[in-house]
Amino acid sequence: MLEVEKPSGAIIAESFRTIKTNIQYSSLDKNYQVIVVTSPNPGEGKTFISSNLALTLAQGNKRVILIDCDFRKPSIHRRFKVSNTLGLSEILVGEDSFKLLLKKYSDNLDIITSGHMPPNPAEALASERMYAFIEVLRNEYDYIILDSPPVLFVSDSQILSTKADGVILVVKCGKTNKEEIKEAYMRLKSINVNVIGAILNAIKIDSKKYSYKYGER
Ligand SMILES: Nc1ncnc2c1ncn2[C@@H]1O[C@H](COP(=O)(O)OP(=O)(O)OP(=O)(O)O)[C@@H](O)[C@H]1O
Ligand SMILES: [Mg+2]
Repeated sequence: MLEVEKPSGAIIAESFRTIKTNIQYSSLDKNYQVIVVTSPNPGEGKTFISSNLALTLAQGNKRVILIDCDFRKPSIHRRFKVSNTLGLSEILVGEDSFKLLLKKYSDNLDIITSGHMPPNPAEALASERMYAFIEVLRNEYDYIILDSPPVLFVSDSQILSTKADGVILVVKCGKTNKEEIKEAYMRLKSINVNVIGAILNAIKIDSKKYSYKYGER
């Protein structure tokens, strides 16, 4: 069960619905169908955000596919508790049709895990086959959400972003610093990638701060 599905996850679910609405409004001018989720550093919540976002979009009655494009540190299969013996890597070498390899999580959400790590992950993501695969998916899904490695460590997410309509940059509250955010943003902009927006992840919600009492000064 993902966080947005948990009975205790009402605030998280509400936050993801807000993100969904923002994406839908941003899509009025430009269609954000293929979206890369990345962050400057490891462990800032890319997989957490991409999986909960994909499910929230699917709950909004859109057809969604979530793909683990982080060959180096795949984790979508763990979050969704499915096997990772076959996935994107096998699709790219043309061994199997994606329809045979995808896993159905719910009526509207399909998942493709990373599969085996290719000898050169960046090259696999840069390939013509990857481009062609995304184009096929555009005809089948409303949203294609791509989980990816950190921008400041490897070039994979930059490469992937050139095939997408937009990128969401995840930054972690109290961890990612200003310089890292700036550098990651510049690296994406330098190759003309459309950064749709940033998500400030893992904010500690202090319930006292948000409550308001009459007569309080
Ligand atoms: N907002 C959040 N609330 C609770 N737990 C979170 C949140 N964001 C991330 N986590 C947890 O923090 C850990 C790291 O998050 P996650 O795996 O999503 O990061 P990542 O950026 O994908 O890391 P990597 O660079 O290793 O791929 C995970 O255990 C995840 O469940
Ligand atoms: Mg991850």
